[in-house]
Amino acid sequence: MRKRLGMIVGLAALVAATPALGQAWQTVTSPNGRIAVDLAVDHGEAVYRARYDGKLILDRSRLGFRFKDAAPLDAGLTLVASRPIALDRPWTQPWGERRQMREHYRGLVATLAAADGRQLGVEFRVFDDGFGFRYTLPGAAEQKLVVTDEETEFHFAQNYRAWSIPAYREKYSEYEYSRSALSAIQTAQTPLTLEGDGVAMAVHEAALVDFPSMNLRMPEENSRTLKADLSPWSNGDRARTHGGAVTPWRVVMVAPDVAHLADSTIVLNLNEPNRLGDVSWVKPEKYIGIFWAMHTGLLTWEPGPKLGATTARTKAYIDWAAKHGIKGVLVEGWNVGWDVPEWWKNGHSRFVFDRAQPAFDMAAVSAYARAKGVDLIGHHETGGQVKDYLRQLEPALDYYDRYGVRSIKLGYVGTRLDETEWPDGQYAVQSLQKVVEAAARHRIAIFPHEPVKDTGLRRTWPNLMSREGARGQEYNGGSPDGGNAPDHTTILPFTRLLSGPFDYTPGVVHFDYRATRPNNREPSTLANQLALYVVLYSPVQMAVDLPEHYDEHADAFRFIRDVPTDWEDSRTLQGAIGDFAVVARRDRNSADWYLGAITNDSARTLTVPLDFLDKGATYEATIYSDGPGADWRTAPERLAIRRQMVSRKEALSLRLARGGGQAIRFRRL
Ligand code: NOJ
Ligand code: CA
Repeated sequence: MRKRLGMIVGLAALVAATPALGQAWQTVTSPNGRIAVDLAVDHGEAVYRARYDGKLILDRSRLGFRFKDAAPLDAGLTLVASRPIALDRPWTQPWGERRQMREHYRGLVATLAAADGRQLGVEFRVFDDGFGFRYTLPGAAEQKLVVTDEETEFHFAQNYRAWSIPAYREKYSEYEYSRSALSAIQTAQTPLTLEGDGVAMAVHEAALVDFPSMNLRMPEENSRTLKADLSPWSNGDRARTHGGAVTPWRVVMVAPDVAHLADSTIVLNLNEPNRLGDVSWVKPEKYIGIFWAMHTGLLTWEPGPKLGATTARTKAYIDWAAKHGIKGVLVEGWNVGWDVPEWWKNGHSRFVFDRAQPAFDMAAVSAYARAKGVDLIGHHETGGQVKDYLRQLEPALDYYDRYGVRSIKLGYVGTRLDETEWPDGQYAVQSLQKVVEAAARHRIAIFPHEPVKDTGLRRTWPNLMSREGARGQEYNGGSPDGGNAPDHTTILPFTRLLSGPFDYTPGVVHFDYRATRPNNREPSTLANQLALYVVLYSPVQMAVDLPEHYDEHADAFRFIRDVPTDWEDSRTLQGAIGDFAVVARRDRNSADWYLGAITNDSARTLTVPLDFLDKGATYEATIYSDGPGADWRTAPERLAIRRQMVSRKEALSLRLARGGGQAIRFRRL
């Protein structure tokens, strides 16, 4: 009886937390029962809320839209139909951080109607690792519809701790994350990570196609309610769409802690299945490149005495890659256009994508690469001149086709596309999609820098491999702000990486380049750089440093050579945002496991049980750790390498230096 009473009091408290309801909540629970999402129409407003293990995590949050030339659909609504849905289907990733996936959810498809008869569809899918919902906009397909605002709210139940980057800065996401209370946020890009009170969450979106990116805004200062804020067109329109259009999924990832959050699969699961069929031509691989020498000021992209992309140098890189088991060679500065003054400023660039500059003989280089079994990786820097790039796209892809180039690194340096449009608006989304689909027709894979954020489209178009979309290693090269802080990479796995792979370009082994970059430092130790290959997932991983520097560090390079970029399984074992991260991954093509652990500016010792290893198996662990006295500021290159036999019954004690790390290969015997 007492228990019953407790329940009734608890329920009353829950109901009291929200205003009286016009209609009853319809509840969907996740397959494991831990997440419950309620949908209701309350006084004409469509609202949802969510609970985790019975505890309210999102309180009454409104749904709806406003349109140009049509009445808003955010009030006066009734629920006219709803039906439950459910799915449990396995699928496999052709490449990825894990092979076996499970799309397992319960959901609800609801139809809301306004007094004038227009209908708004809402579909909810609740997984064990979060929930997503999307809208079907009103009207017939031939009817044009301009969205002037999306009313979706995320009204959090508590003032959680947040890790965020403000929206509408100069460019997308190349900023450091800041930690604050949720209530201190004014705008945020997604993923936005929240934690506290026994739960970790992130707001993001999935399947962003032909719609603007969803940013977040706090309309009422110092509150707990964020609202969708669609990145606008330059005339203020938010989305230019049509009747019956389906929006991207609005996603709330939910997990007991940040380590589980990092292993979330909901974003991929909310994307459509592979549309390209056999994609064995998409190759996860490691690459070196004519790249870091430019970022550290030794060579240049533009023609002149220090030009990087010469035929002779590229051939030397190809030789080195072939000799050291690295599959790809990226060449930046190979084409015409790098000598345009201040090409990186809005509207300045005039790149040509099917003509090499005179010092680079594409026919000779590509024939040489083919003979050596090395993949040439193409480079298209658009300088944000999207219209011009799309005009050149077919000839540019034909050109690379002709020379056997099967993957292209893209770049969108600049603050506005074509001088006017936000790099996360609908224009950017549409133009990237055109490139993805055109490249797929040519069986070419791409990995864009300064991209639209990742929303899991690699499931549908697996030729869209990796992206930048955060401050990468380049900031430790020649960035005027002095580079990334040592905690940066310990934040990324729980924030940016929640959206998808990141072409961070790890692998610095030479830490002092002050002769050419007096203001820059690599904010980590050598062991940390090795660990990043495991911690920061990408199917394409660069060995960023110069071949001659790897020659001086052949022992450390051994790990870079061995570590795969395609995984059977991945597990984030431990982590605290901004402090440390420990990740283990199993190779897709062998029985070996790899582990990466990194720390921030503080040294620490972590105890890691090896219970992820196979039962009954013995492994030879090759352990690359911070050597005696290692410290990112004073002695970053100190590395110790040792071997040890281990099994899953043991635990390892990992000692990490300041800015340090540890990388381990477990070879199954
Ligand atoms: C910025 C990219 O992030 C970087 O990787 C590239 O080297 C330069 N742009 C030049 O395209
Ligand atoms: Ca960049």
